[in-house]
Amino acid sequence: MPQTDNAGLIQMLEAAVKDEHAALIQYLRHAYMMGEGELACEIEAIAREEMRHLWMLSRWIVRLGGQPTTDRGFTDLAGATSPEWMQRDVAAEERAIAMYEGYLTQIADPDLRADIEHILADERRHHGDFAHFVDKTTLEMQAMAEAAAADSGAVADAGAAAPAMAAVDQEALNWGISHEYAAILQYLVHSFLTMDKDEEISSQLMTQAINEMQHMGWFGEELVGSGEEMPLTHHPLTLPTDPAAMLEADIQLENGTAAMYGQFIEQMVDPGAKGVIDDARGQELYHEALFGRLLKRLKPVTSPTAAPTTKVWTIGTLKRKP
Ligand SMILES: [Fe+2]
Ligand SMILES: [Fe+2]
Ligand SMILES: [Fe+2]
Ligand SMILES: [Fe+2]
Repeated sequence: MPQTDNAGLIQMLEAAVKDEHAALIQYLRHAYMMGEGELACEIEAIAREEMRHLWMLSRWIVRLGGQPTTDRGFTDLAGATSPEWMQRDVAAEERAIAMYEGYLTQIADPDLRADIEHILADERRHHGDFAHFVDKTTLEMQAMAEAAAADSGAVADAGAAAPAMAAVDQEALNWGISHEYAAILQYLVHSFLTMDKDEEISSQLMTQAINEMQHMGWFGEELVGSGEEMPLTHHPLTLPTDPAAMLEADIQLENGTAAMYGQFIEQMVDPGAKGVIDDARGQELYHEALFGRLLKRLKPVTSPTAAPTTKVWTIGTLKRKP
């Protein structure tokens, strides 16, 4: 087997990280579009596994001396019905399986091979799951069409559009999703960069990245439930190399976000949308305090001048943006 050099391996791992990132977002989007239910939960669980793959592969990039990437690869946004979305996810898994099978013919390092084999087994399982979801959603759609044909009233119900969402609610949820997406990526990168320095900090950052993913889910379901698209772009990331600077940036992010959510809550209209923003706000305050404790643990003596400056967002500054 040809042994690929470090630069070649990093390049291959970067391509894989971009695809894992794309799968994570594609599956989350599909789960939110399908609304509450068992299937949406199962798809979210698969997305969490893609997040774990992203973490494992990024750790390898750092270990080999490369820079982790937060770029996203091809994300398939096509399809109008659940069976079509599930078919797109089957195709994404097929691409992943082919990529990892190809990688195993070029990688000799036994530890890296073991990790790739582990990921490949997950992708094969996901492929089977999504193929099953295609069948399941197709049958569900057929049953719905039959029920609608049997009851002309149901046709009218199915055709009824979701009530329009107030602009302020939509703005809050859009801002929130772009923020949560940034928090997920920022904490993931900070998590694999701090792994060798402090395992507790690293694992806490990973856990809170998953918590931010839940927030994104709450907001995504609210938006999509009202017939709106969820944004697929994230706010800028702060990615310093020093763990203390990372935690300071994370505290600043949480602090600014809790304040921003507080401002939105004062103006929001829909109780459901307002409720999820308020729930997230409470958890952001917990994150801020948690990161503060982790920072103290890292730097028992902090100089007052090292305190982070707080980034302040206001709805007004947002509106002035082009
Ligand atoms: Fe994956
Ligand atoms: Fe997968
Ligand atoms: Fe959050
Ligand atoms: Fe947070």
